[in-house]
Amino acid sequence: MAIIEARGLARTFRSRKRTVEAVRGVDLTVGEGEIVGFLGPNGAGKTTTLRMLTTLLKPTAGTATVAGADLLSSPLEVRKKIGYVPQAIGETMGGTDPSCLVIEELLDQAALYRIGGAQARRRAELLTDQLELTGLEQRLVKTLSGGQRRRLEIALGLVHRPPLVFLDEPTTGLDPQSRSNLWEHIASLRRDAPVTHAAGPGASGVPADATGSAATGKE
Ligand SMILES: Nc1ncnc2c1ncn2[C@@H]1O[C@H](COP(=O)(O)OP(=O)(O)OP(=O)(O)O)[C@@H](O)[C@H]1O
Ligand SMILES: [Mg+2]
Repeated sequence: MAIIEARGLARTFRSRKRTVEAVRGVDLTVGEGEIVGFLGPNGAGKTTTLRMLTTLLKPTAGTATVAGADLLSSPLEVRKKIGYVPQAIGETMGGTDPSCLVIEELLDQAALYRIGGAQARRRAELLTDQLELTGLEQRLVKTLSGGQRRRLEIALGLVHRPPLVFLDEPTTGLDPQSRSNLWEHIASLRRDAPVTHAAGPGASGVPADATGSAATGKE
């Protein structure tokens, strides 16, 4: 069964009276348990496609079913079933709060998915161990190095053990050892749960079953 089925997904932006065709009709079928790398040059439309598939951005055309739910009519159902690690750019960076403690971020994220108590602490412990954040739990996020912060952002996307994960350039800023640990963690996730979807050139080294490509977004 397909965990992602997209047909003709498109998005245009209006910017200063100009129209940018960021994504022009993406057809995508991803099976359960597949790891897919989505490649393309800067500006090709990878992030825009991921933002549409994760319900954060409304497509201007097209349809999609994501993790068994219709993207347009049941976005909440989609959100419950996915993890998303955004590209670490812009004001919100990859989604972490500089003034929070590392452990607070992990437990708060778990609480948002209604995971609490001992189970949340176990998940936090496992992820800090696998993403090499052990010892940093009581540190403020703003005191982390760039790569440590990126690893925390990745941990947040995985805390609720989603059956489908979207990673936007997850390994940008990570050292070779951390990259390798991340892909090991992704492979281990697949052993007990279905899918990981990776995106962007930062996905280099991803043990992908398939790759898709995005042409350059046109103005
Ligand atoms: N909010 C917006 N308003 C106007 N144009 C936008 C907006 N968001 C994205 N774009 C444009 O859409 C195109 C695709 O952008 P997108 O961020 O999806 O590319 P990308 O493939 O993720 O690139 P990168 O590899 O640099 O992350 C680009 O031309 C970008 O400038
Ligand atoms: Mg991008």
